Amino acid sequence: MAKKLFIETLGCQMNVRDSEHMIAELQLHEGYELTQEVGEADLILINTCSVREKPVQKLFSEIGMYAKQRKPGAKIGVTGCTASHLGEEIIRRSPAVDFVLGARNTSKIVQVLHKPKAVETSIDYDDTTYQFADYRSSKVKAFVNIMVGCDKSCTFCIVPYTRGEEISIPDDLILDEVRRAADQGIKEVILLGQNVNSYGRRVSGGRKGIGFTELLRRVSRVDGIERIRFTSPHPLHMDDEFIEEFASNPKICKNIHMPLQSGSTRILRQMRRGYTKEWFIERAAKIRALTPDVTIGTDIIVAFPGESEEDFADTLDVVREVGFETMFSFKYSPRPLTPAAQFPNQVDPEVADARLWRLQEFQQEIHDRVAAAQAGKVYDVLFEEYNSETGMLIGRSGNNFMIRVPASDGRLVGSIAPVKIVKTGRHALTGELEG
Ligand code: 5AD
Ligand code: SF4
Repeated sequence: MAKKLFIETLGCQMNVRDSEHMIAELQLHEGYELTQEVGEADLILINTCSVREKPVQKLFSEIGMYAKQRKPGAKIGVTGCTASHLGEEIIRRSPAVDFVLGARNTSKIVQVLHKPKAVETSIDYDDTTYQFADYRSSKVKAFVNIMVGCDKSCTFCIVPYTRGEEISIPDDLILDEVRRAADQGIKEVILLGQNVNSYGRRVSGGRKGIGFTELLRRVSRVDGIERIRFTSPHPLHMDDEFIEEFASNPKICKNIHMPLQSGSTRILRQMRRGYTKEWFIERAAKIRALTPDVTIGTDIIVAFPGESEEDFADTLDVVREVGFETMFSFKYSPRPLTPAAQFPNQVDPEVADARLWRLQEFQQEIHDRVAAAQAGKVYDVLFEEYNSETGMLIGRSGNNFMIRVPASDGRLVGSIAPVKIVKTGRHALTGELEG
């Protein structure tokens, strides 16, 4: 019988791709098969995130739970950003853990499996040109790493300490991977990096790089790829050439993530984000002016150290002005190793809760208005799955609305068809096939 792998993936899309890489390596070299049942797994992997404190606290109770549920002899491995950050402390606090594998060391998954109590967490390790085995969780869309690490120094962010310095993957390797995906019938690629606009500045092997805008052009020339998404760009580095390419290249989906973090220029300076309130608003306005039907998503942190009522009002201002279609909002969480954790004037937790609540209420109103305004619109939808229980095809428009369409079967999964929106709601839109 094949050995079974249970994997839990927390955090961002880079982690999703790292999990796919580990699954691929374990399938090819060790004969593992995936399972959804912890109790029947021979190997349990927790691919962790450390961007905020809560999931890190939860990790240890989770390990305890898996240790109880596992079958005798099953191994537990902790991977990802918290693995990078806490390293051997994880094994010290939880002796049930067999190995710890940092986010920059994914290609060593097979090695650590055979090394009792292995801890591989170097953030200088470069496996960007490693040829991972092939595994994708979707037959329709493919995550493709274009770079690893981050050279920014946002004062709140632990990522540079868990994923190390920024290295771009050579463009020919990226294009090979995109072509392979297209050959397998993939329609959409999602290019991944912590800061995609700085793609190409330092390429592995010291090779000369092309910039992100040029990479987008080359990826869009791959036959069979109909849609390109990417995450995340950095508002500071969204230059005119990039925005014009985004707006005019028909293969690039008209949805963009623009992490604001704060609307106050004073706080942005403390965060070392490099842009002002006005710069951000102007960039978003330019994108909207050039790109009909574009949707803009964002991340916002409330209650960064020293944030006053006035600073918070600036954030609400930007939210009102830009009208983000989607938003992830967080309370500031002090992270070890980061400068902001040492800043004075940490905001009172009750004030932080109240601001988060106000921001989310405000955003909900915008979101409801946006959803209601979609009635009657026609979008090209790429269908990703069919739910036979509800009889619904589920897919996304280019501008990233989730759209459901009643259908008797899943034949349309993997294809793009025009859909007219007939019903709007908070979580999904419902439509009918056109024509
Ligand atoms: N506290 C709260 N939120 C954070 N993020 C990153 N670091 C922190 C922190 N210390 C948020 C940012 C980022 C998203 C992935 O997580 O908004 O864009
Ligand atoms: Fe963190 Fe800034 Fe890098 Fe994003 S760009 S991961 S916020 S340091």
